[in-house]
Amino acid sequence: MKPRRAYILWLALCLLALLSLYQYVYLQNINLPKWRGSNSHHRGRLRNVSILLWHWPFRRAYPLQGDVCLNMYSIPHCFITDDRSLFDQADVVVFHHHELQISSQKLPLHLPRPPSQKWVWLSLEPPAVNRDLTKINHLFNLTMSYRRDADIPMPYGRMVPRPQRIDPHGEKKPLHSFVVPWENHTCLASWVVSNFKRHHRRSHVYLELRKHIPINVYGAANKKRLATDQLLPTVGRCHFYLAFENSVSRDYITEKLWRNSFQAANVPVVLGPPRSNYEAFVPRDSFIHVDDFGSAKELGSFLKRLAANRTHYESYFRWREKYDVHVPSDWRERLCHICKRYNELPPFKVYHDLHGWAKKE
Ligand SMILES: *[C@@H]1O[C@H](CO)[C@@H](O)[C@H](O)[C@H]1NC(C)=O
Ligand SMILES: *[C@@H]1O[C@H](CO)[C@@H](O)[C@H](O)[C@H]1NC(C)=O
Ligand SMILES: *[C@@H]1O[C@H](CO)[C@@H](O)[C@H](O)[C@H]1NC(C)=O
Ligand SMILES: *[C@@H]1O[C@H](CO)[C@@H](O)[C@H](O)[C@H]1NC(C)=O
Repeated sequence: MKPRRAYILWLALCLLALLSLYQYVYLQNINLPKWRGSNSHHRGRLRNVSILLWHWPFRRAYPLQGDVCLNMYSIPHCFITDDRSLFDQADVVVFHHHELQISSQKLPLHLPRPPSQKWVWLSLEPPAVNRDLTKINHLFNLTMSYRRDADIPMPYGRMVPRPQRIDPHGEKKPLHSFVVPWENHTCLASWVVSNFKRHHRRSHVYLELRKHIPINVYGAANKKRLATDQLLPTVGRCHFYLAFENSVSRDYITEKLWRNSFQAANVPVVLGPPRSNYEAFVPRDSFIHVDDFGSAKELGSFLKRLAANRTHYESYFRWREKYDVHVPSDWRERLCHICKRYNELPPFKVYHDLHGWAKKE
């Protein structure tokens, strides 16, 4: 054979080999990294997804009778269970970090793990609270956290579009308008704090701020604990709520903002990550950021002026024409939410350095 011919034949053979390898991989549906886009749509949402919660976060269990995801959250084909005997059938197994950290629960490392099963590391706590995670490196496939860079981002709350109608002039108007409870606000500011530590930045800001404005303080730290059903009506009586996070960390924006402030219909004064980080979650005119002021005195006098000027105060509620606030009801909703993300999840992934990921500020 002439060298030229041999070369062409060799090339053709290589091509054939490559093609069949590609077909083999494709047909076997081996989970190689995605080339581009996603081929997961073929698998579709019609497939049932089963989620096993290995243990309930903070030992508080909720009933799981019936098709919870469909009946409570309108999420079809999604089944959650806490029955460990279903381990080998589960597509996803969720482990809440707190119980692993305090060793009240263990990972089922002795059980044979189905190859396509995904283990989810779940924590809604900031990096400072998570201790050494190196022991659980190389074990998890996915993360679920308040962080936007988690595989399953689970913020403490979110803005949802407010239902709109078209008025006679063809303009969009909210279906139900929001009324600013101006007349109901009979105090300037309030704060609920259960964990008062002098070294927290928020304690320092509070101690300075109270020299300039009155602040109603509730919670265990002040021995004025509010009953759950009293929380929103009580903090809702003040113009402002001090939504001060105990840990200052990227994306760590908790129910202090979403529930104690937005749901209570007051204006939040936030202390946490920088303003730009808050603006990734909420409209820029929905909150007052402590860092916008040079001192507690400046902040205090701004709040006093704002509470005396109804027009200006009400401008902090303008976003409510477009948005409503949604706060997940309990862990069941968060678990069902995994199904909504299921098709976009990476088919194959291992957190070899979960520690590094979880401790990243
Ligand atoms: C999904 O689960 C439901 C309820 O158990 C069952 O009726 C249905 O056949 C399942 N669908 C698939 C595609 O497995
Ligand atoms: C003000 O408080 C009253 C009594 O709690 C309540 O019925 C009313 O809806 C509140 N007004 C607004 C605008 O929220
Ligand atoms: C109240 O606020 C509005 C809007 O910010 C401003 O135009 C107005 O001058 C303020 N009124 C007083 C009395 O300060
Ligand atoms: C999940 O992680 C484990 C490592 O503990 C790995 O063996 C397995 O292949 C991974 N599975 C998926 C579906 O990513």
